[in-house]
Amino acid sequence: MKKELFIEKLNGHDTTGMIGKISKVVGDTVQIGEALFTIESGKGALTFKSTEEGILLSFSIEEGQMVTKGQVVAVVEAVEQSASNENSKSATPKGASAAYSFGFSKPQKRTVDVDLAIVGGGPGGYVAAIRAAQAGLKVAIVEEDRMGGTCLNYGCIPTKAMASSVSVLNDIRRASDFGFEISKVDVNFDKLMDRKNKVVDQLVGGIEYLMSAHNIEFIKGKAQVQQKNQLVVNDKLQELTLNYKILILAMGSKPCAIPIEGHDLPDILTSKELLSLKEVPKSLTIIGGGVIGMEFAFIYRALGAEVTVVEYLPQILNMLDADVADVVRNSAIEKGIQIYEGACAASIKDTLNGMKILEIQIGETSHFIASEKVAMAVGRKANLDSLNLELLEVALNERQNGIEVNGFMQTSNKNVYAIGDVTNMIQLAHVASHQAFVAVDHICGSQTQMNYDYIPSAIFTNPEVGHVGMTEKEAVVSEIDYLVSAFPFMANGKALAMGESEGFVKLIARKDDRVIIGGTIVGVHATDLLATIGNLVSSQTTIDEASHVIYAHPTTSESIHEAILMLDKRGVHFA
Ligand code: NAI
Repeated sequence: MKKELFIEKLNGHDTTGMIGKISKVVGDTVQIGEALFTIESGKGALTFKSTEEGILLSFSIEEGQMVTKGQVVAVVEAVEQSASNENSKSATPKGASAAYSFGFSKPQKRTVDVDLAIVGGGPGGYVAAIRAAQAGLKVAIVEEDRMGGTCLNYGCIPTKAMASSVSVLNDIRRASDFGFEISKVDVNFDKLMDRKNKVVDQLVGGIEYLMSAHNIEFIKGKAQVQQKNQLVVNDKLQELTLNYKILILAMGSKPCAIPIEGHDLPDILTSKELLSLKEVPKSLTIIGGGVIGMEFAFIYRALGAEVTVVEYLPQILNMLDADVADVVRNSAIEKGIQIYEGACAASIKDTLNGMKILEIQIGETSHFIASEKVAMAVGRKANLDSLNLELLEVALNERQNGIEVNGFMQTSNKNVYAIGDVTNMIQLAHVASHQAFVAVDHICGSQTQMNYDYIPSAIFTNPEVGHVGMTEKEAVVSEIDYLVSAFPFMANGKALAMGESEGFVKLIARKDDRVIIGGTIVGVHATDLLATIGNLVSSQTTIDEASHVIYAHPTTSESIHEAILMLDKRGVHFA
């Protein structure tokens, strides 16, 4: 069936735009949501995505042409959705694909030859693609889901969009402190989630635009290893052979579960489901008080759920110093989040009324927590089974939980690199992106190795936490003779004016050479302020050098300056 594609929307209130790069040709197979071309207007570029799945029959536009809202731009021979439905299976001749059986879309055979193939379109893969294209390599990237990976679609970005909604809500709730009386606030969860989805869609569209702007071949589908230097992507729409000289594996990770009784009940949530709930649960128990667990605890508590966090280790956010975790814990408790530390989740049981009962063990004693929903946030495991690594001659690390790489991100097969969560080194988007730079630069002749000494981390609890370099507890374990300071936001004018006096800036310096080696901020703007400390630490700045930088007044960043001065017991605004 022929279907017309038309321009439903343009950027903002624009009614006209100019066709930018067209990334498909007539005869190509297209999928729903796949980028076909960009439309440029005064408000920036927008990616036009197919609303149909099938074969592209014609374009009625060309690059550089002006178009208007509502204009028909292409015609697609659409695959009838019912063709793949369970009910219509009997109509499909044995051995024939559903699409083929209806006679209108034979899988399209195609061969693509590139210098560099990348599997996985997350912040590792797509950054590698852009870096390589900038260096003049011919690049193809294969992604079976949407571009952007976990970070954009099911992780950092949607969580931060939800956390931002909650931040507005929290501001409204304390409006009275600032002189505004707001009698009632209603949470419209549908609208909140809709906004979150729009933020994600915009960013995913932006990445797709960047792929076409850099002439990167974006192949939507599941890559499989055919033979050395050859991948295939076979589905009902395409039989694609991808020949490459170099391959980068960037397949990411997925949430893992602890193998306790009931872990496989159908409605145990992971971070992915917590980002797509239809309504705020009345009560939610989260197993794991790490980064993901604590971020969601604050979000859902603010939205009205009774939240309980169960953490196995003696401290939530166990990688942080105890005084930093104390600030987050106190804030959580004050907001009504129940926290059990040193508590091991032991089993989950369903009840007749749909509630879940989580059994936890604290010491020798069992306790039971009843809640509407249970979520697991107990870490993520590398996606090692999505490609035949053996055929690629790519070895795993000693613990068999990630792909083994050297400092250039090269695997045991020198023509294959691995970056991001699939290496299971540090599961952070910005680490994946930097590993992408190192890998591509090495492919292009650089000898710069990955350095993991100064990786910043940003935790979006309430208050936020930003950390870079060494913590105090790591300095103690490493037996480093150190100086430590902590400047409280309570003594910072801007923080007080904002009514955000919780937390502090903490710095660690080596005693012998007075180099600043680590810093943590817990409190207002912590995650954004962190970059300043990151620069100090990664450029190995001494206390003396750092103390001569002038910080603008009145800003929360002055707290960093005060913490630097306090390393020498010369703080001005705190004694
Ligand atoms: P995580 O490793 O940070 O925390 C998992 C927690 O679960 C640990 O504290 C562990 O002790 C606890 N746990 C394990 N088994 C348990 C049991 N039986 N009972 C009670 N507690 C148990 O893992 P998380 O939070 O799932 O995050 C996964 C990865 O994603 C991490 O590497 C994290 O750094 C990264 N991430 C980073 C973000 C950020 O930087 N803002 C945001 C989201 C994820």
